[in-house]
Order: sequence, then C-alpha cells, then structure tokens
Amino acid sequence: MYSEKVLDHFQNPRNVGEIENPDGVGQAGNPKCGDIMKIYLRVENDVVTDIKFKTFGCASAIASSSMATELVKGKNIDEAWSLTNSAVAEALDGLPPVKMHCSVLAEEAIHAAINDYRRRKGLPVLEDKEYNHDHGHQH
Ligand code: FES
Repeated sequence: MYSEKVLDHFQNPRNVGEIENPDGVGQAGNPKCGDIMKIYLRVENDVVTDIKFKTFGCASAIASSSMATELVKGKNIDEAWSLTNSAVAEALDGLPPVKMHCSVLAEEAIHAAINDYRRRKGLPVLEDKEYNHDHGHQH
C-alpha cells in the first residue's frame, strides 16, 4: 500500500524537532482526523536555511512532513511557498488516494510558517487557498 519512500520517511523522519527562536512558526490541523503538524523556519536572506517539524499524526502525515522539509530546505521563501501537497506526494512516489489529504497538512503548515515570517518582517501576508480536508478529495 505504501511506497518504500513513505516507509523510509515514516521510520526515519528527517528534520524532526523544533528550532529555538525561529523566524517563523506555522501549524495546520485536520479537523476530520485530528492530526496536527507544526513547522519551524530559520530564514536568512530570504532563504530557508533550516526547517524542523513536529507532527502528531498518521504515518503519511509524518512522511509528508519529512519529505516537505527536505524539499524546502535551502530554497528561497517564494520557492518554498510554491511547494504543493501533490509535489510532496509525488516525491514520496505517491500516497494512496485516501491518504492524499495527509500531505495537505505539510503545504498548509509551511504556508502558515511563511506567513508568520512575513508578519514578523512587516511584509504583507500571502493569501492562502481554502484547504479541503476531506479524505480522498484533494486536488
Ligand atoms: Fe490525518 Fe493522515 S489521517 S493526516
């Protein structure tokens, strides 16, 4: 059911933990399953130099957080914003359709952390999309 990459990132998640005095923090939760993901950012000259996560959630949510942090690390803040949940799922060699919504938490939490960073910097926050947390109905 799960790809080897999902199992690997679930069993050996990258970038777990928190950053002290982060430049941005964001959280996303799925009201349907109750899972929660928190993202911490270190940003230097508009580049994400460090990122950590804490996820209270299912295996797919943990694997998605791990992969998303790997994809965002070293990117500039605009590239980080454009990371989509489907790109995260693709990098994991796919998620089962009913588990696609788990990867949405990663996109949403990263967006929340970037907007927190922008707010602290006095920059206008970016408009986020409306997330649909239904199982199996993510596009
Ligand atoms: Fe809730 Fe996966 S079941 S995020």
